[in-house]
Amino acid sequence: MSTDRLTRFEAFGQLGRELHGEEQAGHAGTHTFIILGASGDLATKKIYPTLWWLYRDGLLPDETYFVGFARSNLTLDDIKKACLPHMKVANEEGEHLSAFFSKNSYIRGKYDDGSSFARLNTHLSSLPGGGDANRLFYLALPPTVYHHVTTNVQARCMSSKGWNRVIVEKPFGRDLQSSEDLSTHLLSLFAEDQIYRIDHYLGKEMVQNLMVLRFGNRIFGPVWNRNSVSCVTLTFKESVGTRGRGGYFDDVGIIRDVMQIHLLQMLCLVAMEKPTSTSPADVRDEKVKVLKCIAPVAVSDVVLGQYTRDPEGDGQSKLGYLDDPTVSEGSCTPTFATAVLYVQNERWDGVPFILRCGKALNERKAEVRLQFTDVPGDIFDERCQRNELVVRVQPDEAIYLKMMAKRPGVYFSPEETELDLTYGSRYKNVKLPDAYERLILDVFCGNQMQFVRSDELREAWRIFTPLLHQLEAERTHPIPYKYGSRGPKEADELVRRVGFRYEGTYKWMQPHAT
Ligand code: NDP
Ligand code: BG6
Repeated sequence: MSTDRLTRFEAFGQLGRELHGEEQAGHAGTHTFIILGASGDLATKKIYPTLWWLYRDGLLPDETYFVGFARSNLTLDDIKKACLPHMKVANEEGEHLSAFFSKNSYIRGKYDDGSSFARLNTHLSSLPGGGDANRLFYLALPPTVYHHVTTNVQARCMSSKGWNRVIVEKPFGRDLQSSEDLSTHLLSLFAEDQIYRIDHYLGKEMVQNLMVLRFGNRIFGPVWNRNSVSCVTLTFKESVGTRGRGGYFDDVGIIRDVMQIHLLQMLCLVAMEKPTSTSPADVRDEKVKVLKCIAPVAVSDVVLGQYTRDPEGDGQSKLGYLDDPTVSEGSCTPTFATAVLYVQNERWDGVPFILRCGKALNERKAEVRLQFTDVPGDIFDERCQRNELVVRVQPDEAIYLKMMAKRPGVYFSPEETELDLTYGSRYKNVKLPDAYERLILDVFCGNQMQFVRSDELREAWRIFTPLLHQLEAERTHPIPYKYGSRGPKEADELVRRVGFRYEGTYKWMQPHAT
């Protein structure tokens, strides 16, 4: 391990120590990372590649072993072959990659079979560190088997002396009741501080930046409230459709898939009060308080859409949602949603929080946008546009403040321009880690700040469950929108009605373009 890499991992270890004391820091001793569902899509495309990047960059403790577990009859070589296309291995990294796979193993077993887990445990105990190693269990599995797997892990596979942590992937239930059932089940087996519910948006650079931006600067605090902010928009747009994931998506829909989790978590970070400290407990306490101030979303505050084929597409691409053979015929599942929420507290009363998300839209983009109120006492004959602060999460991370300045030269008229912090130019040589890299490292370090606590989850479902139940009971038909468009025009009308102003006059000049 190179010195700077070691330093980096030690820094994470240090963080863990600060948060949890020496014993819980998590960097000492041997670690075993167990991937349950090792043959699946998530494991192949995301988890194994992430573990490889962390290993390659020297960010994991030296003594870390990786054990895959699934039903399929696979060899380690099969896993390697399936994962390689997603691992971005450079030519000169061949030896390092072999070293990574030499620390891997695979056990075949059934999820509902205690004896399979007993075998898994025998294998785990035969690895260096044995029963004393710290164990991380990653549930890269469909929720249908969570129950069996967690019960079996608890009964047969817990480390006797080391710590045990369980990483759970969304969906965390389908509604308030099922999510509560899952939480009750998990909490009957593990303590809250052993459970890491992943929302990978919380691992993204610019999402993590929200707290520093807000609480590390003097200038934003005084205007970050109902006196100066006219509305807040949280946007998630994808330019592709469900691409073969229609079967999964059809049962879930865009509200559960994106809005209720990724966008709501971002909303919390924008709206919460300053936590007492940056400890996970203090931060998560503040997020829960925000959620408690939000009433369940009413159907009248929502516009739903479903994409249809672009007739100008080539017949294969840009097909409609219902053209996907894995989607049920006549499905009412929305692939687009805009919803307006209100945080009814002293800071935000009356300010609309607009959550927008959709697939097969005109671009790929995730961002947070605060639109400020008009300048009171206008002296420029209504030529000033509202200020906007935009935190662009992806692609091309940036923070920009849209503002007015004097038109340069012999003029004295206001002109739209921006203060621009584009990461690609300001931090040219900094490699931003993938969200999963950060989050998995946080689990090693025992830092739960960027994971969803059970009370946060309960509140999130409370806000969306009545809406979801009503839409499903009434089989509400989403509004069709063309693949590659901005979504239904009714969504723009809704956001205009609640106070978002779009003039269409702002033009950004890419400063670094040649
Ligand atoms: P725009 O004025 O284009 O858009 C502002 C907002 O209005 C967006 O939320 C947009 O939604 C919405 N909007 C767009 N069209 C309509 C419509 N017809 N009706 C209602 N609402 C609409 O300004 P931006 O801030 O988005 O900037 C323009 C471009 O410049 C962006 O691509 C931005 O990333 C880029 N830029 C990049 C910077 C950087 O990288 N550093 C700095 C500054 C700008 P929607 O998102 O759906 O389009
Ligand atoms: C997942 C959703 O949580 O996030 C997907 O289930 C979505 O539908 C994905 O495509 C988007 O993640 P990212 O990091 O590519 O924006």
